[in-house]
Amino acid sequence: MRAALEVLARQRGPVPALQLAGGAHPELRPAAVLQPDRSQRLNLEAPDWDGQQTFPEVHVLATPSREETREYLALARRAGGRVFLCAENRLGADGWRKQLKPIDSFSQNHCRLMELARDTLPDQGDPLALRPPYLEADFVSCPGLFSWDRFDPGSQLLLDFLPAQLPGDGADLGCGPGLLARQLLKRGCRHLDLVDVDQRAVRAAWANCAHDERCRPLWLDLVKEKPPGGYDWLTLNPPFHGSGQEDRALGLALLARAAGALRRSGTLWMVANEHLPYQEALGPLNLQLIEVRQQRGYKLFQCRKNA
Ligand SMILES: C[S@@+](CC[C@H](N)C(=O)[O-])C[C@H]1O[C@@H](n2cnc3c(N)ncnc32)[C@H](O)[C@@H]1O
Repeated sequence: MRAALEVLARQRGPVPALQLAGGAHPELRPAAVLQPDRSQRLNLEAPDWDGQQTFPEVHVLATPSREETREYLALARRAGGRVFLCAENRLGADGWRKQLKPIDSFSQNHCRLMELARDTLPDQGDPLALRPPYLEADFVSCPGLFSWDRFDPGSQLLLDFLPAQLPGDGADLGCGPGLLARQLLKRGCRHLDLVDVDQRAVRAAWANCAHDERCRPLWLDLVKEKPPGGYDWLTLNPPFHGSGQEDRALGLALLARAAGALRRSGTLWMVANEHLPYQEALGPLNLQLIEVRQQRGYKLFQCRKNA
């Protein structure tokens, strides 16, 4: 993201534009933005796009998901103005160039900035719209969310590892589209916070939990912001990808946030890919390991917050 913003700033910096899926850069002053990721949104000063106003240019930043990027391009088509897509090479810039046949194309900083003709852009799509990912699906989601069209195998292992009853107040930290959360609700909790950095994930989780009155949707960047805390238990399937690249610090930051949010003697239930360094991090965070299980490339942890 940083590299693509750098190119956009150098090439299109002074133009007041609508920025879709982007982030902050000191030389970019977007006139309006659409960015459901709170970690990016908090750094952007521009107002949210109202869906009506038009601008001389629309700048789309390619995301790690091609399907999601297509939805942003469809929105750009409807927003009017000249449309530019900036894609990092590692996110398939060349594939976009071949597919969209830009009017103009410029390569710099391992990124490609392309001006696109309106009639080459997809005419259907909305990155904020939630929908069942396939005909028979009994849940809503959208491209770009974690495991957006199926229940993740790691989440399934975590679910199987959990006790039959989870009484008291809990939260799924980083709830994604809420397919784990809706199963948690069946285990007798009094309250469940649905927390995610992506606003669409929070909305999807809330819908997939059938707006159950025990749930509270919370749009938070857990790296920078604290959840309410005092939880009896938490589930955590820590993210380890930021902008499509492995980012261990992100998972460790969420683990620290979970440790801080549990009440004394509260329980953390966690699943992670087995190569990730979470076990060593538990002690310094005042979390006592009760059980660890290794299964199909994952590690499952039950930890108690020390008194
Ligand atoms: C591996 S998914 C887990 C989804 C769900 N809990 C499950 O197990 O099926 C991790 C989630 O953490 C969210 N996430 C990433 N960074 C975050 C942050 N800084 N604050 C809050 N949530 C974050 C991601 O958007 C993603 O939905």
